[in-house]
Amino acid sequence: MSRILLGVAGGIAAYKAAELLRRLKESGHDVTVVPTEAALQFVGAPTWAALSGHPVATDVFTGAETVPHVALGRAADLVVVAPATADVLARAASGRADDLLTNCLLTATCPVLYAPAMHTEMWQHPATRANVATLRERGAVVIDPASGRLTGADSGPGRLPEPDELAGIAGSVLDRPDIAAAAAGRDLSGLRVLISAGGTREPIDPVRYIGNASSGLMGYALARAAALRGADVHLVAANVGLPVPAGTTVTGVRTTAELAEEMTKQAAEADIVVMSAAPADFRPESAADRKIKKTSADQTLDIHLVQNPDILAGLVADRTDPAQLIVGFAAETAGTPDELVELGRAKFARKRCDLLVLNAVGDGKVFGQADSEIRILAGDGRVSDSLAGSKDTLAHHIWDAARRLRADR
Ligand code: CTP
Repeated sequence: MSRILLGVAGGIAAYKAAELLRRLKESGHDVTVVPTEAALQFVGAPTWAALSGHPVATDVFTGAETVPHVALGRAADLVVVAPATADVLARAASGRADDLLTNCLLTATCPVLYAPAMHTEMWQHPATRANVATLRERGAVVIDPASGRLTGADSGPGRLPEPDELAGIAGSVLDRPDIAAAAAGRDLSGLRVLISAGGTREPIDPVRYIGNASSGLMGYALARAAALRGADVHLVAANVGLPVPAGTTVTGVRTTAELAEEMTKQAAEADIVVMSAAPADFRPESAADRKIKKTSADQTLDIHLVQNPDILAGLVADRTDPAQLIVGFAAETAGTPDELVELGRAKFARKRCDLLVLNAVGDGKVFGQADSEIRILAGDGRVSDSLAGSKDTLAHHIWDAARRLRADR
């Protein structure tokens, strides 16, 4: 169990912080909420107290006998400020201590995560940009806001990322506190990253398709992790029903042919390409124009399947930039860990990519699950130890391996 201090500033997105609090509690963490006075205009103290199980104060004088700003800051394993308004970023960047939250920000020695949410103009204002840069320089993690509908009819960057995303990032920083340094230092900045995610669907007729169980969670976790570390991230998503990760852009596709076309087109611009999607290997030779009807009880239906292109192998064969890194995935059903590694090595040799992320599937493992277990195979025959954890944490291991490989070249 970790101790999290959840700072809530006065923005309309404060209501989403209540959901984030629930997620963090459900993950087994002990969470104390420190709202600002303005936050209580949006969500009242009883909500925070009831959901967290701890008393709530906004000033340093309530419960002064326990010296709350020092006790809370020192005890925390992680501080998450969500939403972080322009005002709280400014106060934190200038080291002010005018309420309990900003006092705690000065006494905390653990990783601090800010999730800004505000109108686009405020986010893009030079004053806010400078405050964000200052906080990052000092080691704080500032998550880029998501784009989309804001409070009024306007839209643009400024939305608070969804609670699941924030909980995923918080969990990965708790698992691996060094991720905070990688994120604050933006160690992937300047890199253009292209990631495929999800599972393709091959139409049989206008309402039916051949598909697979891939949810897109791993690809989206990779995108979130790379964006957190400063990369310029683009996703090509096949039938993924998840919110667009903050700070990334997404192109939607349906079939393997569409995925192949998009990946081939966009790969020319990318420094790192990751094929985490599960493309269908076969498609019906032709899809019926109209819904196939059942005609009798003993009717059978033959669907003739033809093979789809191997996108990963094509990307490797057509690579023009020798510095470009291509990462593949291998989903295998194996009886033993040794057999799994053997299958991974064989696939690695066939695909000829630079890194291969190997995982065992089947028995409800991997697809649609928040956690997974992987091994990372590198071109020189190295196989990592088995790495287990949330897909967000594993995503950071994959980016670490990619960075190491680029540095070694
Ligand atoms: N892949 C691809 N194009 C396909 C099938 C797979 O680019 N038509 C990519 C996947 O995105 C993944 C890697 O190839 O990065 C391995 O996918 P996997 O499904 O494990 O293997 P297959 O290529 O389908 O090989 P096999 O049938 O032997 O399992």
